[in-house]
Amino acid sequence: MSTMQGDDVTLVVVDDPVGEAAAACRQALREADGELGRARFAVSGGSASEVVRHVREGIPELWSRVALTWADERCVPFASADSNRGHAHATGQLRTDHPPAIELPLFLDGETPEEAAERAEEGFVRDFGRAVDVVLLGMGADGHVASLFPSRGDPKGLVGYLEDSPKPPAARVTLTRDTLLTARTTVLFACGEAKREALTRLIAGDPLLPATGLPGLLIVTDVELRS
Ligand code: 6PG
Repeated sequence: MSTMQGDDVTLVVVDDPVGEAAAACRQALREADGELGRARFAVSGGSASEVVRHVREGIPELWSRVALTWADERCVPFASADSNRGHAHATGQLRTDHPPAIELPLFLDGETPEEAAERAEEGFVRDFGRAVDVVLLGMGADGHVASLFPSRGDPKGLVGYLEDSPKPPAARVTLTRDTLLTARTTVLFACGEAKREALTRLIAGDPLLPATGLPGLLIVTDVELRS
C-alpha cells in the first residue's frame, strides 16, 4: 500500500481497491450518521458498483438508515444491462430484502431525460435536503465522473441531464458538480492502466477534470503513480 497526500486529496494504491474503497465509504457514512444523524450516499455504476455491495454488507444496520441515490444514470430501461441501477439490482449489489431507507432513482422507465431530472431534483430537495454526505465515483479514462465530461459545460441546478453524452448512451441524468461539492467525503474508485493519465492529471489538480477540487477526495486505485 502507498499513499500520496495533497491539498484535500489523498491517493491510495492498494492490492484490494474494492475493499479499501468500501471501508472508506462505510467509515464516512458512520461518521455522518453519528455526527449529523443522517447518511446520504450517492453511488456510481461501472466497476465502482461492486464497492456498493461491500458497503451494504459491512453496515447491515446503518444501511437501513441510508438515503441512497445515484451519481448518474443512463436513460435506458431498468431491465437493460446498460442501466446502472438495473445492473446493481440484477447482480445483488442492492437487494430488495435489505433496502436503504430511501432509494432515489435518477431515471425511471418512460421518462424523458428532462422529466427524470426534474422529478429527481424534487426528490433530492425533499428527501436529501439538497445535499449528500458521501459520494462514490468511478472515473472514465477521459476523466469523466458521474456524467460530467471534461469537454462539456457543467449542467446547472442540483440534478441535470444531457442528451449528447460523448460516451454512449447519449441521454443521461447526473448530479451536478455543485451537488457533488456538498459531500464531506468523495471516494473515487479508478483501477487499471487505462486510468493512469486521468489519475496523473487529477493528482496534479488539472482544472479541466470535473473531479478536481471535490471535497475530501480519496482516490483508491491499483495504479502506482510516480511522485
Ligand atoms: C457510464 C459509466 C461510467 C463509469 C466510468 C468508469 O455511465 O458510462 O457508469 O461513468 O463510471 O466510465 O467505469 P469503470 O470503473 O467501469 O472503468
